[in-house]
Amino acid sequence: MNISACTAAYFTGAGTTRTITERFTAAIEAAGIPARAADIAPAGSDVPTFDPNDLAVFAVPSFGGRVPAPALAQFARCEGHDTPTVLIITFGNRAVDDTFLELADTVRERGFIPVALGAICAHHSLMIDVAKGRPDKTDLEAVDNLAHAVLDKLARISDARDAELADIPGNRPYRDFAGSPFRAQADAGVCTGCGSCARQCPAGAIDPANLASTDTDACITCMRCIVGCPAGARSLTGGEDLAAMRAAFAERLAPRVESYIVG
Ligand SMILES: Cc1cc2nc3c(=O)[nH]c(=O)nc-3n(C[C@H](O)[C@H](O)[C@H](O)COP(=O)(O)O)c2cc1C
Repeated sequence: MNISACTAAYFTGAGTTRTITERFTAAIEAAGIPARAADIAPAGSDVPTFDPNDLAVFAVPSFGGRVPAPALAQFARCEGHDTPTVLIITFGNRAVDDTFLELADTVRERGFIPVALGAICAHHSLMIDVAKGRPDKTDLEAVDNLAHAVLDKLARISDARDAELADIPGNRPYRDFAGSPFRAQADAGVCTGCGSCARQCPAGAIDPANLASTDTDACITCMRCIVGCPAGARSLTGGEDLAAMRAAFAERLAPRVESYIVG
């Protein structure tokens, strides 16, 4: 297949999925194919268009073994043309459960054909003592290997359907995930009123006219407003409960889980 460009759409809360997606597109560019990566996370942001000879990439973090709901809604606006597609999931050393299957089901409906996937282990953005220092060299090599594997695979075929993945990991119905018990909150005394959090929020949970208040029903605890606040004014609710859960996860998820690719 002749691939003329690579177009990636990614969702990120704490930034790791951006890092991984850009690592992938850099490896594609190093092979001589122009590549771009679009952050589709902020509510209302544009989704990229995919040209007929594109290689598409959809990348998300696994939240509760599922695709973050705002990402699914954004990907459902994308339009493929029987486009060969790479699925990338980042996860925090627990499991991806049904994330690949949910993602594949959504993008297949839109004309994309999954031909390769990569589950890349990363520092856990919520349970922050899990998988510290990841992605590491081994994880990043897996991303590079994924890029090389998909290009090799596509070079050998003339129709994306001939490269389609037969088995996508996961089960239906998808795992139930009711969300984290913790939510983002603002310290009004520290907030400078810049409004970055409201602009960046994937869930539209922060009212630009009242930055101190977060809609706790809408918040998906993606960490984006907390990591991105220039004043450090945002944090999680939960206090001692959060600290106790973080300690329990750190113990339970101490054994290393490896990144893996299928190409
Ligand atoms: C609300 C929430 C739920 C999560 N659920 C899982 C999970 O089920 N399994 C897992 O291994 N990691 C889980 N993680 C960790 C993230 O998948 C991981 O840190 C990911 O790399 C974050 O990507 P980002 O930095 O692009 O947001 C969760 C993180 C958050 C914030």
